[in-house]
Amino acid sequence: MSHIKSVAIVGAGASGAIAASALAAEDVFDHIRVFERRGTAGGTWIYDADPGQPFKLCPGKLPPDIDSPLEIPCSLPATTPHITRERYDKTPIYENLTTNVPDIAMSYSDLPFSYGPFVPHWVPKQYIENYFSSHGTDKYLITNTTVEDISKLDSPDPNNPRWSLTLRRFHPVNQQDEWWEEEFDAVIIANGHYSVPYVPKVPGLEEYMAKYPKRVMHSKQFCSATDFTQKRVMIIGNSASGQDLTTSLVREAAHPVYQSRRSAGRWDGDKPPEGVEWKSVITRYELSGDIVFSDGSVILGDEIDKIIYCTGYKPSFPFWNIQRGGQQLYDYHEDRLVGGYLHTFFQELPTLTIIGLPRVLTFRSMEYQAIAIARVWSGRSVLPDKQGQRLWEQNRAELTKRERRKFHDIPWDDGETVQYLQALFDIAGLPRFDGAGRFPPVLDERTRWAIRNIKKYPEPGRNGTEDGYVIFNSAEVKDSLHFI
Ligand SMILES: Cc1cc2nc3c(=O)[nH]c(=O)nc-3n(C[C@H](O)[C@H](O)[C@H](O)COP(=O)(O)OP(=O)(O)OC[C@H]3O[C@@H](n4cnc5c(N)ncnc54)[C@H](O)[C@@H]3O)c2cc1C
Ligand SMILES: NC(=O)c1ccc[n+]([C@@H]2O[C@H](COP(=O)([O-])OP(=O)(O)OC[C@H]3O[C@@H](n4cnc5c(N)ncnc54)[C@H](OP(=O)(O)O)[C@@H]3O)[C@@H](O)[C@H]2O)c1
Repeated sequence: MSHIKSVAIVGAGASGAIAASALAAEDVFDHIRVFERRGTAGGTWIYDADPGQPFKLCPGKLPPDIDSPLEIPCSLPATTPHITRERYDKTPIYENLTTNVPDIAMSYSDLPFSYGPFVPHWVPKQYIENYFSSHGTDKYLITNTTVEDISKLDSPDPNNPRWSLTLRRFHPVNQQDEWWEEEFDAVIIANGHYSVPYVPKVPGLEEYMAKYPKRVMHSKQFCSATDFTQKRVMIIGNSASGQDLTTSLVREAAHPVYQSRRSAGRWDGDKPPEGVEWKSVITRYELSGDIVFSDGSVILGDEIDKIIYCTGYKPSFPFWNIQRGGQQLYDYHEDRLVGGYLHTFFQELPTLTIIGLPRVLTFRSMEYQAIAIARVWSGRSVLPDKQGQRLWEQNRAELTKRERRKFHDIPWDDGETVQYLQALFDIAGLPRFDGAGRFPPVLDERTRWAIRNIKKYPEPGRNGTEDGYVIFNSAEVKDSLHFI
């Protein structure tokens, strides 16, 4: 694919940073641009002390409903009044958030974090910004610019489509939006997948929220436990957000802090920590304010001040033009990419890729994805043919269905992560003899040990403590990486 000379990257978070560096290192691309809707690089890690207007919670609604495409001006370039519609672009992180992935897996192989293993949120933010400048890729950054549309162009080679991007930049001085188009040979989607909050549909919840406005929120709207001093709170969810918020609220809120859990977490012992009361799944909200659980228990309306849904996020691709792209990008029913290969490539769209979607090693796994993409697009490596790629997708769909797992979740303990990264490593291969291109990192024993053993939270009955973090001794319960 050595005809690819211009590449657009959507997003300047961790994925965009490594994508820009991997492309630059190949030394064959003439034009690289990283479009970022925020004012700086950093993505998830750009902390917003002012979270802005609270967004409306829409139980059961998915990104195509709540984060739909904007209407694009009929002729471009154009200037329009500034669009203020909710785009979920503010951060999901909160004031006291520290990382939960050991620094060795949360950094790229050529630049360590300044310290570790777990760090406050500003460290990854500084790291990503610094990664752009230390690799000289900050010159590719176009900030305050949202990619609003990606359309396939009619091109002479239908098997290698070119792309038109519609871009929108907010002009803060005249409070207007400027719109324009740019064309590229290839596009990397690095837009993150923890922006659009998900709240499950529960009977009576909509009516409950209408009757008790401001009572129900999502963890994306959580800033600080001190906003909940002596409040009676219920957390819903038991993954990283549910665990983190419960742990900080128990120090600040009234006791007990209720936590509704659908399944047990790796941190859970046989009984809840002091100050916490576990509840089962909510089956119904009553207009009286009462909340009914699947085990038949009830919390009365006057016993709760705040309910915080820690039920995660859904990926959103409002810029993807389905008509012009010729296919859907994401199937929300199956919760997976359509026609993907190795969670990175698209079988029918070889000049489009995505980084950062699978739940695997975060930064370090993005590095493998980025180098593999750069190598294929520079013409120095090839992918299996379409049939081989299709077979990978079919096999993965069958496996994950059979084992009732999510398509894009890649566990560590059964060796799947190692296999997956090895596949990307093999596609990447070596750099050129003259030095062009990056080396894909090795997954050495030090890194593997850290992933297996260094944990942010105590895991009952299985821990020793060292320097404020936890050394975990055996692999039981959920996968070691299930919180990622
Ligand atoms: C609360 C929380 C805590 C987390 N903690 C950890 C942790 O401790 N360790 C860890 O490794 N991971 C953690 N993660 C996961 C984290 O998101 C990833 O580590 C990583 O930062 C993702 O990088 P990304 O570049 O793929 O996505 P993001 O960081 O989301 O970056 C995507 C970028 O794309 C931009 N963008 C999106 N759409 C457009 C568009 N249309 N046009 C232009 N720009 C666009 C966004 O503004 C953003 O800057 C956490 C996630 C959450 C929600
Ligand atoms: N650095 C940190 O400390 C930190 C803090 C917060 C978040 N994060 C990161 O942020 C990302 C998102 O984490 P997250 O915890 O917000 O989301 P998540 O990992 O997707 O977890 C969602 C939780 O909601 C529960 N849930 C989903 N649908 C439900 C339903 N219909 N009824 C009841 N429960 C339901 C899930 O239950 P099941 O468990 O049964 O599926 C799960 O516990 C992860 O990458 C995580 O590592 C990191």
